[in-house]
Amino acid sequence: MSPTDPRPTGAKPASAPLGWLEPRALDLDSVPTNDGRTLTDVMRTRRSARTMTAPPIEAVAQVVRKTLLADFAGVGSNHGRKLKAVVSAGALHPIQSVIVSGACDPVIYDDDSDQFFSVQVRDDVRLQAFVENCRTVLPDAGGCWVALIADCRDLSSLYTDHQSLLWRDAGAVIQMMALVAEAHGLAFCPLGILGTEIVEALLTNHHHHHAVAVGVMAIGKGEAA
Ligand SMILES: Cc1cc2nc3c(=O)[nH]c(=O)nc-3n(C[C@H](O)[C@H](O)[C@H](O)COP(=O)(O)O)c2cc1C
Repeated sequence: MSPTDPRPTGAKPASAPLGWLEPRALDLDSVPTNDGRTLTDVMRTRRSARTMTAPPIEAVAQVVRKTLLADFAGVGSNHGRKLKAVVSAGALHPIQSVIVSGACDPVIYDDDSDQFFSVQVRDDVRLQAFVENCRTVLPDAGGCWVALIADCRDLSSLYTDHQSLLWRDAGAVIQMMALVAEAHGLAFCPLGILGTEIVEALLTNHHHHHAVAVGVMAIGKGEAA
């Protein structure tokens, strides 16, 4: 082992939900998808697309949900562990998502309750900075921005040198979301920026130090759609 390899500490997962402002449950009905396509087909046709228009938020929500849905949440000694389509170190699944669109308040997905919530903005200047930075990277992406935030509380108590785990977990989520977006016939492109401003824009002070922005993606209607 190298000195920077993460090692289990033997601690147990314990974290309560992150501190969002005034979460309100949303009903984002399912939309028709191209689910009949084979995985091989989806893998062969997926490509990053940088020109897109605004999709229905329900369509983006379904991509987020299919990527982050917990098929099984551990009980007893496995409390805090989850099984999903996407892989995660220690089955902790610390990566959460926020959908940012010009059309409504930011929307988070809670994998414990399998529900979407609209949340209030704590710092509008930071939110606008987030959106402007995204637009600078992909000026022709008129879709939604999906920001990924890692909740480091359990990860840092269960592992020494936990930092590399959250970046690898984020990569796994980005790859899975790219495939799910393709299966849903949506345009998708990851951004090189981390979207750091989203943490201060949305989370309460108490949780800033435990949350790390780990990436942003554009999802929308492609040119052919
Ligand atoms: C972490 C990450 C960051 C990326 N950042 C950008 C970006 O800032 N701008 C962009 O146009 N594409 C970005 N991409 C998309 C890559 O350029 C793209 O995946 C690569 O060229 C391969 O093309 P393909 O996805 O169409 O197969 C990013 C991809 C990843 C995984």
